[in-house]
Amino acid sequence: MDRYELIDLTRRALKIATDRTTDMTASERRQPAAAYTDRDRFDRERELVRRAPQLVGYRSELPTPGTFCTKTVMDVPVLLTRAADGQVRAFQNVCAHRQAPVAQGCGEAERFVCPFHAWVYNNEGQYVGGPGQDGFPQTLRPGVGLTELPAAEHSGFLWVGLDPAAGPLDIADHLGDLGPELESWNIGNWAPIGEKVLDTQINWKFALDTFAENYHFASVHKDTFGLIARSNCALFDSFGPHHRLVFPLRHITDIAEQPEDSWEPLHNLAVIYALYPNIVLSATVANGEVFRVYPGREPGHSVTYHQNATPMDLSDEATRKGAGEIFEYAHATVRDEDYRLAAEIQRAMASGARAELVFGRNEPGLHHRHLAFDAALGDPLLHD
Ligand SMILES: [Fe+2]
Repeated sequence: MDRYELIDLTRRALKIATDRTTDMTASERRQPAAAYTDRDRFDRERELVRRAPQLVGYRSELPTPGTFCTKTVMDVPVLLTRAADGQVRAFQNVCAHRQAPVAQGCGEAERFVCPFHAWVYNNEGQYVGGPGQDGFPQTLRPGVGLTELPAAEHSGFLWVGLDPAAGPLDIADHLGDLGPELESWNIGNWAPIGEKVLDTQINWKFALDTFAENYHFASVHKDTFGLIARSNCALFDSFGPHHRLVFPLRHITDIAEQPEDSWEPLHNLAVIYALYPNIVLSATVANGEVFRVYPGREPGHSVTYHQNATPMDLSDEATRKGAGEIFEYAHATVRDEDYRLAAEIQRAMASGARAELVFGRNEPGLHHRHLAFDAALGDPLLHD
């Protein structure tokens, strides 16, 4: 985002903070609990997510030719490489012999040796050698290798598709107007500081919903985020199926008397993107967080991969330690505050005690997300 756009957002954020209001929808929405508990609905959603382009990390995770990283996407083990030609490629991280993962973690490697029987692959996914070749006259033909997946590098992030036969990913089309905006943050070039996993008894959409409003900050996060950001005060803008929320920080009203030229927008805002269907991206002055939320084994199970990147130079130990502590703090807040409560809610919804939840006019991100799912799945569970 250029400075003009950031100043414009800051102006809008200052106005809602001063007026003690928030962006609103025209009316409330009654949301069926079944949207989070119904098996058939869940199965169709899993397929929807499986077919969608998946943001899986930062460009900076593959900084130079010869680097690689590994991911788990909807349970599929994925290996991403940057080969000598500079291109990002993705493969199922599954040996063609007995399906062991051929790579672990991330780093630099031009060859991957399967730990099971030492089949060797290059970073373009081709089988290049290994012991006992006489045993595999049918399999070891030219072209044998890891199964390649569609991959792209776009807007600073790494993307994969889970269907090997689906053809190239069109991320520019997927993101629309949001693509240049995401690129402008430069988050893709920030230093990645790890990945933490939350394997939870929460429906995947309910997990996403915890990021879609700040109405809960003063209660759920009263000793954490609520000390920094305002509650029930957010700007909402949609970009096709994606949306952006801007959370004004508590002290934003201090800039009201200062000239706009002197404003530091990122000292007064946090920006949260919901990238359809299952990614949350949070941008602040110090952190670029990615939450990849995947449907799990059943409607009430999901897995969240939480990554963070920082614009700080991590070459000295003290800065690295500080960045790690900030990440742990943000992660613990999601785990111990949002997700702990969400797991209780999931149990209540599964009990059938109450057929519906309510989305308020002050929760436009929730409305937008679920309207997008209803439209994509073709048969909203809404019954009014
Ligand atoms: Fe929260």
